Amino acid sequence: MSNFKNYTEANREAWNEAMPHHQKSNGDKWDKVFSKPGFSVIIEPELSLINSLNIEGQKIAHVCCNNGVELMSLKNMGAGECVGFDISDKAIQEAQARAARFDIACEFIQTDIYDIPEQYHDEFDIVYISIGCLGWMPGIQRFFGKIASLLNESGELFIHESHPFSEMLPADELENVDPMKIIEPYFKKDPYIDNDGIDYIGKTSYPSKTMYWFVWTLSDILMGIIDNGLKVRHFSEYPDDISTQHGKNQAAGLDIPLSYILIAEKE
Ligand SMILES: C[S@@+](CC[C@H](N)C(=O)[O-])C[C@H]1O[C@@H](n2cnc3c(N)ncnc32)[C@H](O)[C@@H]1O
Repeated sequence: MSNFKNYTEANREAWNEAMPHHQKSNGDKWDKVFSKPGFSVIIEPELSLINSLNIEGQKIAHVCCNNGVELMSLKNMGAGECVGFDISDKAIQEAQARAARFDIACEFIQTDIYDIPEQYHDEFDIVYISIGCLGWMPGIQRFFGKIASLLNESGELFIHESHPFSEMLPADELENVDPMKIIEPYFKKDPYIDNDGIDYIGKTSYPSKTMYWFVWTLSDILMGIIDNGLKVRHFSEYPDDISTQHGKNQAAGLDIPLSYILIAEKE
């Protein structure tokens, strides 16, 4: 097993363990909302920027798609062929079941992003990445290499992620700490190793399988994109916490960067 596989396999097992917790809190909610034709979870500020890509009929890949609710939303908004990739068997099973139940034509594939088969290379008009993906990746250059290979010659990459700045601040669950105090490094070379579970939905913690979270700086992310032949054409930062981990930072009202949207295109 390569070094990467040690990490991604551990994370796969941790995500399989986490999914029943998420499903317990959220499963019925997703069934209810997706029973309405045309339902979408995509809201501002993402919505306007997604619409600027003219997704009607476009072939979209969602990497780290989890239970597929964002990809099914894009499909409901008029996207063409939609393929979601995720390493968690249980997340993919949930996505496949819900898409079939509500007749939303998305394909969901269980795979490590680094192992996406070559048959998907040069295929997509848009690769979509949303909150909580990059931190699971043990190598950011190789990750963006894979993303670039999925795009066709005029393809575009869309990312809506948590801002690396927020990684320095305490997460909401940490009590008795000033939420605005910088407590973690920005330049962190080793991953965080965690055994407290990933139930950011039900907000429970449980003794979990070991998982690895990697902190990528803004320059790591930008250079990963640029070095793999993509041109950044849009970058915007927001004071909105989209991670559900930094609500206290947002509530403090100091207008710090908590999320960003980036659009890049094949050169
Ligand atoms: C926080 S979710 C992000 C999905 C979506 N934005 C959401 O909020 O539900 C992170 C997802 O990344 C997936 N993941 C982690 N490492 C991965 C890898 N190496 N390859 C593919 N998927 C991976 C996990 O299984 C999980 O479903």
